[in-house]
Amino acid sequence: MQLFLDTANIDHIRHGVELGVVTGVTTNPSLVSREGKVIYRDLVREICSIVPGPVSTEVLGQDASQMVVEAREIAKWAENIVVKIPASLEGVKATSVLTKENIKVNFTLCFSLNQAVLAAAAGATFISPFVGRLDDIGEDGMRVVIDIVQFLSYYRLPTQVIAASIRHTQHCVMAAKAGAHIATIPYRVLLQMIQHPLTDTGIRRFTDDWRKVMGDEGIVEAFTIPKDDQGNSSR
Ligand code: E4P
Repeated sequence: MQLFLDTANIDHIRHGVELGVVTGVTTNPSLVSREGKVIYRDLVREICSIVPGPVSTEVLGQDASQMVVEAREIAKWAENIVVKIPASLEGVKATSVLTKENIKVNFTLCFSLNQAVLAAAAGATFISPFVGRLDDIGEDGMRVVIDIVQFLSYYRLPTQVIAASIRHTQHCVMAAKAGAHIATIPYRVLLQMIQHPLTDTGIRRFTDDWRKVMGDEGIVEAFTIPKDDQGNSSR
């Protein structure tokens, strides 16, 4: 499962990419607004220059013709752009037009298998089921991810599932088990994924055991290459 960051924050994106684990980014109008009154195109282009893979950028229009106009413009901003289109009937129509023009679409705000069936039929590159928002209203968000993954795999369709609206690390575990191709996660969740108290105590115990015998300088000395009498290193 690939990891995308669900944010428009440049510092967080830089950090995720530096870690070597973040291969894409998803944004939406709410996430972009959190960065203040920015120039949409400039911010997205900066994100695209940092991230090695797809950067999803959402249209604002609600009818198909307006979505298509905006998507064509967004698609010019960078090579690695994917246009996010909402899972409405107008969105299906826009997706069908855009995919025929080889513009990649992330079919977003997806809450059901039926919406996903339409997205795949329209040629969407990605489908984003929103897990957390379904959980919020008492439904089983991850069930929708599982159903969509099974459907795509049964019919050998190329559309990929992005498990979205991820709220906590357990969602990441469940998305991986469900076979989601990608999970798009908030920066906070990325930082939480590595945490385990046994790792922390394990690192401390290894270091303490070493120090007790080798002394405080022991770690530096372990990696110092010994020199011969002429001052040449022996390796
Ligand atoms: C995905 O592409 C969306 O940007 C995102 O996951 C929405 O998450 P939220 O429900 O936490 O706003």
